Amino acid sequence: MESALDPHTALALLQWQVELGVTETILDAPLDRYALPETAPRPPAQAAADPRRPAMPAPPPKAPEVDPAQEAVRAARAVGSLDALRTALAEFEHCELKRGARNLVFADGVPGARVMIIGEAPGRDEDREGRPFVGRAGQLLDRMLAAIGLSRSESVYITNVLPWRPPQNRDPLPVEIGMMKPFLERHVALAKPEVLVLMGNISCETVLGRRGITRLRGQWTQAMGLPVLPMFHPAYLLRQPQMKRQAWADLLELQAKLRES
Ligand code: URA
Repeated sequence: MESALDPHTALALLQWQVELGVTETILDAPLDRYALPETAPRPPAQAAADPRRPAMPAPPPKAPEVDPAQEAVRAARAVGSLDALRTALAEFEHCELKRGARNLVFADGVPGARVMIIGEAPGRDEDREGRPFVGRAGQLLDRMLAAIGLSRSESVYITNVLPWRPPQNRDPLPVEIGMMKPFLERHVALAKPEVLVLMGNISCETVLGRRGITRLRGQWTQAMGLPVLPMFHPAYLLRQPQMKRQAWADLLELQAKLRES
């Protein structure tokens, strides 16, 4: 094909392209872009339908996106007994923690007891046994309860904010707490305790929407329609035994409340 440009101009244009960074030519024959039609071809979707071509099948409809928090609300509302709640939790597939856990840790103690204790989340021992507060912290909890004449075999019901162990016992994430809260609310409503005891910051954050256990502990407050007493978590007391004095004062508060009514 003959060039319409004189050799000097053609060379100058080539040098200019090299300066711009062009390192290779793509086509064997040069393409005169000035001779191309001005309008670009329309994308296939907009091109006029060709009656000779078979119509493209429509893409399959997308599965509606599920909001796990909404699903939790729906599943929790749907149950009318503690057994049904346990089953609903066992069948709930939207919390990633479930995949890393060995067991669902639902509750222990006496359903319908006057006192319901809410801990944080299962640790290794609880995950293995499928029961809350069975490790060292749980044994301390049992001794604390016994000191005021309570026990999980007779007078206390125990659960956690999360029913599955977080990996490496890390703190529960806000999204996990938010997802599991509807189940916890339903748990409390079905167990019908007279008072709630919140062990540590995570349960205070979940139930009261506030952290700061050092300030909150020992002060009765109201949540989920019930009197609520925040206390130091037994695992914290194992690390800070000097705080057991305050925990003892809080246990006496609990005892006094139960004697009042
Ligand atoms: N800590 C908790 O908060 N819950 C348990 O079940 C065990 C340890």
